Amino acid sequence: MQTEKVLGIDIGGSGIKAAPVNTKNGLMLESRHRIPTPSPATPDNVAGIIGDLVKHFNWEGLIGCGFPAVIQQGMAKTAANVDKSWIGTDINKLFSEATGLPTYVVNDADAAGTAEMKFGAGKGKNGMVFLCTVGTGIGTVIFNNGGLVPNLELGHIEYKGMDAEAYVSDATRKAENLSWEEWAGRFSEYLDAIEKLIWPDLIILGGGASKKGDKFLHYLSVNTPVVPAELLNNAGIVGAALAGRDQYKLAKATKKTRKKMK
Ligand code: BGC
Repeated sequence: MQTEKVLGIDIGGSGIKAAPVNTKNGLMLESRHRIPTPSPATPDNVAGIIGDLVKHFNWEGLIGCGFPAVIQQGMAKTAANVDKSWIGTDINKLFSEATGLPTYVVNDADAAGTAEMKFGAGKGKNGMVFLCTVGTGIGTVIFNNGGLVPNLELGHIEYKGMDAEAYVSDATRKAENLSWEEWAGRFSEYLDAIEKLIWPDLIILGGGASKKGDKFLHYLSVNTPVVPAELLNNAGIVGAALAGRDQYKLAKATKKTRKKMK
């Protein structure tokens, strides 16, 4: 199986977006295609959409997906903003069967972060980089000297007696009709709490917020430099493709080692 061109799929609360990606340079090979997330967004319904996306691109190769939950060895372990029936679902298996193609799933923030570090605002950045995606949920990821720590869920730290995500997400900003200044005040407090926990050298903001930096970046008062993500909407797709490639290679290497040990 060739690993240079991979179909990247970004599964979100409102839309499922995909495009074939050249994993060597991070460029999309065709314009992205978006299908609204089905309701209810159960595993079987979403698997149907993944099948439709594969048909749309006449895809016959490797697939990588970003999914908004903790993912261990292809299995969803949490479901903060998705249907609870995902917990315990082997997504690698479900999507591979639905498409007939090898499909690997990772956490969506891990995917977007990987793309930003390789081709965007984190390129060449060493030290501790904290990347936060602000959308329906809060996705968090840290890279230490470029190395990813997977499934970091700092969007769910307890803050002011509640789940931090419920206080600072973009969904909350909209639901509570907060002005940018009000929301940025909350978000700044959140980043302040994060700073005290992990002491990053750089903070990159991704997700929907990365496009609206001019509206709120000047209100943030954290000590660490904060920059918007550069790949904007495409980080999730590009990162999913990179993750698909890496997970596939890892699975192949593990199989080889096991064979040798027998
Ligand atoms: C989930 C994370 C996800 C983030 C962004 C959070 O609610 O717990 O796993 O990365 O939303 O989608």
